Amino acid sequence: MSEEQMNDSTFNRLFIIMILAMTVLTVIIMVLASFASSDVNAKLKEQSEQENTQKVAERLAPIGVFSATTVAAVEPVVAADLTGAAAYEPCAACHISGAAGAPIVGDTAVWAERLKKGTETLYSNAINGINAMPAKGGFANLSDNTVKAAVDYMLEQSK
Ligand code: HEC
Repeated sequence: MSEEQMNDSTFNRLFIIMILAMTVLTVIIMVLASFASSDVNAKLKEQSEQENTQKVAERLAPIGVFSATTVAAVEPVVAADLTGAAAYEPCAACHISGAAGAPIVGDTAVWAERLKKGTETLYSNAINGINAMPAKGGFANLSDNTVKAAVDYMLEQSK
């Protein structure tokens, strides 16, 4: 074996060993990288979910009435001022049928009697409740103006 041949085969062996070593190293780095990134991805996902929930809550906060519990407790729910028939709609539940002794809308005589107290008293009784009628008819989310508009509508319909 000449010296040159020995050098060649030594080089070949070294070369193969190096290739193998680098392949193994590459695989190890890939595995480590995928572990590291899966951890980071999980953290990012968790963080963005938290931010989303927070943002949704922030956006809904001004409307308030749309929290699940409020919707269940008060329906129909309206925070803005309503007028006319729309304001009266929640009241109709009792005031169409006369449930629990509610003065029936359209009954001129009954409402003429009630009107003797004065419109302001009717407003405040509707807002604060009177006897079997709960405050705002039980629809606490109705604005005072909406309740007044509902009373106006009821009086208008009972002339
Ligand atoms: C749960 C049934 C119920 C609902 C809903 C209801 N009412 Fe009444 N309402 C009554 C009853 C019962 C009375 C009679 C109370 C009494 O004088 O003893 C009454 C009385 C009234 C009176 C006369 C008050 C007075 O001083 O004589 C007004 C005005 C009135 N309701 C307005 C409303 C308005 C406006 C709404 C909707 C925002 C509404 N009600 C929803 C049951 C209801």
